[in-house]
Formats: sequence, C-alpha cells, structure tokens
Amino acid sequence: MKFAIFASGNGSNFQAIAEAIVSGQIKAELRFVFSDKKDAFVIQRAKRMQVPTYSFAPTDFKSKALYEAALTELLNEQDIDLVLLAGYMRIVGPTLLEAYAGQIINIHPSLLPAFPGINGIRDAFEAKVKETGVTVHYIDEGVDTGPIIAQAKVPITSGDTLTSLETKIHQTEHQIYPEVLAQLIKTTQGESK
Ligand code: GRF
Repeated sequence: MKFAIFASGNGSNFQAIAEAIVSGQIKAELRFVFSDKKDAFVIQRAKRMQVPTYSFAPTDFKSKALYEAALTELLNEQDIDLVLLAGYMRIVGPTLLEAYAGQIINIHPSLLPAFPGINGIRDAFEAKVKETGVTVHYIDEGVDTGPIIAQAKVPITSGDTLTSLETKIHQTEHQIYPEVLAQLIKTTQGESK
C-alpha cells in the first residue's frame, strides 16, 4: 500500500506515522508529504526523515478545481492508494474527492459528531464535557463528517487546562492513527488473499 500525507502545519501526526513505518508497525510505503504551506514545519520534519515533499498553494492556480487537479495528477503519478490528512487545513473539494473516493482519511481531535471544525479541542474544553477524544474517519463533502473508522476517548478531569488537554489529545492521536492504519492494511491484505 502506498500512502501520501497532506499537512499544513506542525506535522506531529506525520512524524508518528512515518516512525511507525520505519519501525515496521505499519507495512506501507510513505511516498511523499504534500503541504499547501511552503514554510510549514512538517516539510522540515519530512526532510529530516528523508520523505519526499511537494508544496504548492491554491493561490498558485486560477481556481481550487485546478489546484486539486494538480494534486490529483501528483497522486496518480505516484500511484497512491490512500491519502492521509494530518492537519491539512483545507476542505477537500469535489475534484479531489471524486478522483479519490473512499481513499482519503482524516484525523480529528474530538469524538465526532461532537465538536467538528478547526477548534475541536478548545470547543470540548469550553463546553465542560467530561470526555472528548479523537476520531479517524473517511472524508466526504462535509466538514469533519464521513464514515468513522475508529475513535479513542480522552477524559477531561477537573485539573485539566486547555494545554494539558491538548497534550493528551495529541498523544492519543499519535497512538491511534498508526494503529488504525496498521489494522486497515491487515484487513485490506486479508481481503485480497
Ligand atoms: C491534529 O490535532 C489533528 O487532529 C488536526 O490537526 C492537528 C494536526 O497536528 N486535524 P499536527 O500538524 O499533526 O501536529
């Protein structure tokens, strides 16, 4: 199985997945990292781990459809089976969604359908819920909707601050995303036998 990761920022989930491939936990090939932000830290992380990188932005194109057509071409050229969104801060539009239907996975820092959107951790903290968590899901045309693959719960205790909650959520993400991918590969390979 051949992966590509799309990320816009820090790239800690990229790092967790790349390390899980190096350790053999995930038996797949990480072909490249794409970032819509040329100076994103994820690019430095990828270079450090000798993973090829590509970067261009929607503003480099006349339309979002053309931007996504270029992305689709890149995915086709590299023979990618699965796209992993890991902090990719854009909504995937119809061009890419239709080309890679059922082949794009996202990680979101809440127990969806609760707290979708860009502030999933903060929104759960401010709502004073007793537990939140992490969701890995296939994407569809909505924002943080689409079939759920796996979820992990994270309790919010009275001593938690937003920062401590963020730390717990990220630790959980770095565990669950590689686990889900390893499992998915096993299931897919089992089916093709
Ligand atoms: C993660 O919290 C992920 O759930 C969300 O964006 C964040 C990305 O973090 N979609 P990083 O760039 O992987 O460190």
